[in-house]
Amino acid sequence: MITETLTTDLPDLLKLAVNDAVKLLAAGEVVALPTETVYGLAADALNADAVAKIFAAKERPTFDPLIVHVPHKKDLDMVADIPEDIAPTVKRLIERFWPGPLTLILPKKACVPDIVTAGLPTVAVRASQNLVFNRVARTLEKPLAAPSANRFGSISPTSAAAVLSELDGRIPLIVDGGACHFGLESTIVKVEAASPKPRLIILRPGPITAEDLKAYGKPVSIDKLKADEKPEAPGMLASHYAPRTPLRILDSPNDFLPDPDKTYALLSYRGEPEDGYTDLVEWKQMQILSPGKGKLPEAAVRFFYALRALDECGADEIISEPLPERGLGVAMMDRLRRAATIK
Ligand code: TXA
Ligand code: MG
Repeated sequence: MITETLTTDLPDLLKLAVNDAVKLLAAGEVVALPTETVYGLAADALNADAVAKIFAAKERPTFDPLIVHVPHKKDLDMVADIPEDIAPTVKRLIERFWPGPLTLILPKKACVPDIVTAGLPTVAVRASQNLVFNRVARTLEKPLAAPSANRFGSISPTSAAAVLSELDGRIPLIVDGGACHFGLESTIVKVEAASPKPRLIILRPGPITAEDLKAYGKPVSIDKLKADEKPEAPGMLASHYAPRTPLRILDSPNDFLPDPDKTYALLSYRGEPEDGYTDLVEWKQMQILSPGKGKLPEAAVRFFYALRALDECGADEIISEPLPERGLGVAMMDRLRRAATIK
């Protein structure tokens, strides 16, 4: 199969790209589309055969359920029911954060095929705020299942070029919408009725932080729950988002004992020598997430891009500085810990 890439940076090109994407999706094909988080590999969520093509292209195991994107926030009921006991909270969250990078786990409607939810009674649902994605979803007027557009277990793509390197020859079309606004996958939340406040269980940290969620209930990270309290969270494998090159988070620069026969590449937060990392060895390549002061949103946008570049530079090992674990840093450290093959 030849993979075509269509750009969207002029109004006429956008129209052509959206038309082609809609045509393919309506015919049960898969298309890679930009979202505000990462690029997604989309298919008609209500067409099981189309969704099966996502799993095939990504080589994704079928126990790992997909996120469904509704065209508009009012369309939540296309795929999900809202239990009465959490309805006020769910409505407030949607009012505040949709369209945007917040995915909610809710009881699924019967029309959602089992392949989408890996047989679970729940569905993960969000509405994207990306202009290109929205045009496609709203023209098609259907919910779109769309996991990140990478091979299973590898680094999420934040550019059309990254999608191409992951899925070239496996999908018919990539719509190039430029760089992704956030650069990290959506925050996944399960709302649970509780007193005095509903519990907002964070299954995957992302651009909407625990701090952002505070006004709507009590945010709790799934890692903090006891085994018998944890909601099902398939797909959150410990090893995930992994570059092919071994990666280690170096908590302190003093802990580094480089092997003289190996080459190393550095993922640096600010690239500041005073942090103690930039001069440890002669790095084969150094990627700086946010030069100077270090700003977490800028670091997030560059995060997967930088990891991908380091993975491709040919070093024997990637060394990562630890990132500040607040705001978007929580989501980045989550991804880094999952990516770390050397502990
Ligand atoms: O930002 C995003 O969420 C991106 C863009 C494309 O929208 N999508 C994304 O999808 O990250 P994916 O497939 O890479 O991650 C989906 C994860 C699954 O691995 C699983 O952990 C969780 O969502 N998930 C999906 N359905 C679920 C369910 N019913 N219950 C619990 N977790 C679920
Ligand atoms: Mg993914």
